[in-house]
Amino acid sequence: MARFVSSQPIAQAPEELLLQATALMASIWPKAGLNVASVVSARQHVERVRAGGGIMFSILEGDRLIAHAKVGERDMVLPDGILHVGCLAGVCVDPEFRGQDLGRQIVRTAFDLVDRGQVPVMLFQTAVPGFYEKLGAREVSNTFFNGTDPALRHERPWWEAHVMSYPAKFAWPDAPIDLNGSAF
Ligand SMILES: CC(C)(COP(=O)(O)OP(=O)(O)OC[C@H]1O[C@@H](n2cnc3c(N)ncnc32)[C@H](O)[C@@H]1OP(=O)(O)O)[C@@H](O)C(=O)NCCC(=O)NCCS
Repeated sequence: MARFVSSQPIAQAPEELLLQATALMASIWPKAGLNVASVVSARQHVERVRAGGGIMFSILEGDRLIAHAKVGERDMVLPDGILHVGCLAGVCVDPEFRGQDLGRQIVRTAFDLVDRGQVPVMLFQTAVPGFYEKLGAREVSNTFFNGTDPALRHERPWWEAHVMSYPAKFAWPDAPIDLNGSAF
């Protein structure tokens, strides 16, 4: 069956595609808030996802979503100014389709936003740094925090072990970084 890669603003993504993305991510990262069955209604869930904005990257086989990634944008706060960052999240390939280069394709498509100059740099967390190193990203070791909530100022906001930026050649700062929101 034909496979194709697409990207679109999440605000305009079809409901069916957003529900498939939620179901795929919930199957890979089971946690509260990602389970379509647990939300009040699929429609409300879709509205919430659309309101979050960003760009969604998909690989479809026919009508079936088999790989997913999304990128939002955020101004992060450094001691000496603002850094505008692309926030990569939700990178996953359906377990049935792994090892077929789809992970590389979907991330490459997302990284193209940087390569084409639409976003200066990307930041993300991951459990699999080796996968992203092959794609030109590198691990960063800043102190990160979410400055929007004083109670969280001293807590590491990420839940995965590794934080990375793309491209590796970007002059990523050494300073503490306020994510200016929750981790992604
Ligand atoms: C990580 C993931 C996206 C890889 O997708 P995939 O389609 O199986 O990967 P690809 O076939 O595109 O692999 C591309 C390259 O990365 C390597 N790779 C794949 N998974 C890897 C991993 N877990 N660690 C290190 N390298 C990995 C492959 O060996 C391949 O390298 P090669 O061409 O030199 O052989 C997929 O396993 C997945 O969805 N995992 C669960 C969710 C997750 O961990 N997401 C990413 C972090 S947020």
